Amino acid sequence: MKISNTDIIISAAWKDQWPEDKTPEFAFAGRSNVGKSSLINMLTNRTKLARTASRPGKTRIINFYDIDGKIKFVDLPGYGFARVSKAEKNKWSKMIETYLSEREILLQVLLLVDLRHQPTSDDIMMFDWIKEMGFNGIVIATKADKVKKSVLPKNINRIKKTLNMTEDDFLLPISSTKKIGKYKFWDMINQLLEVNGFEQRFERQ
Ligand code: GTP
Ligand code: MG
Repeated sequence: MKISNTDIIISAAWKDQWPEDKTPEFAFAGRSNVGKSSLINMLTNRTKLARTASRPGKTRIINFYDIDGKIKFVDLPGYGFARVSKAEKNKWSKMIETYLSEREILLQVLLLVDLRHQPTSDDIMMFDWIKEMGFNGIVIATKADKVKKSVLPKNINRIKKTLNMTEDDFLLPISSTKKIGKYKFWDMINQLLEVNGFEQRFERQ
């Protein structure tokens, strides 16, 4: 069955507001404007489930989405957004850090980076942390539609090298506007569910 029910459960900042149901969660992390919210919409065949914007800093709180009662997608506020106060930046990082380190039902953190650019020091820190925490090293390289086929291998290698990715890590180029990489993404979700002992599966969307 294709996904038929997706809905926002809650926009929550702190632990006391996180949803209590126990479906496994997949968190989308990455710089502001990299395309986290757009990707959630593309994957769920929706246009306005997660709010997106041409300007960075759209998602300012943690959004939990229910995907057919089977799993949750968690849209995190982006980091590296210059035009906010230091106090707000600290609040965001504390919010993200608390979620990532204390959420027990978190199955995988997906790091999104822009396929056009070299990952930043924040991206490197996030990827190192993901691996230190024992998650798989999975990088989703966004905006693939903006990269010419001829430079694709070079850009992929630059990302892999900068993030110090190993043979065991996985990089998936994706485009939300052109729907590139959608099948592979859902195959990956199924695989992660399987290796972690969950029985629910998704059809290719
Ligand atoms: P924050 O909420 O600020 O953290 O940003 P975000 O990571 O959620 O980014 P968002 O999905 O809001 O997208 C930012 C901008 O990038 C929007 O203008 C999107 O239309 C654009 N965008 C996202 N994905 C793609 C893509 O695959 N291709 C292209 N060309 N543009 C994209
Ligand atoms: Mg967003």
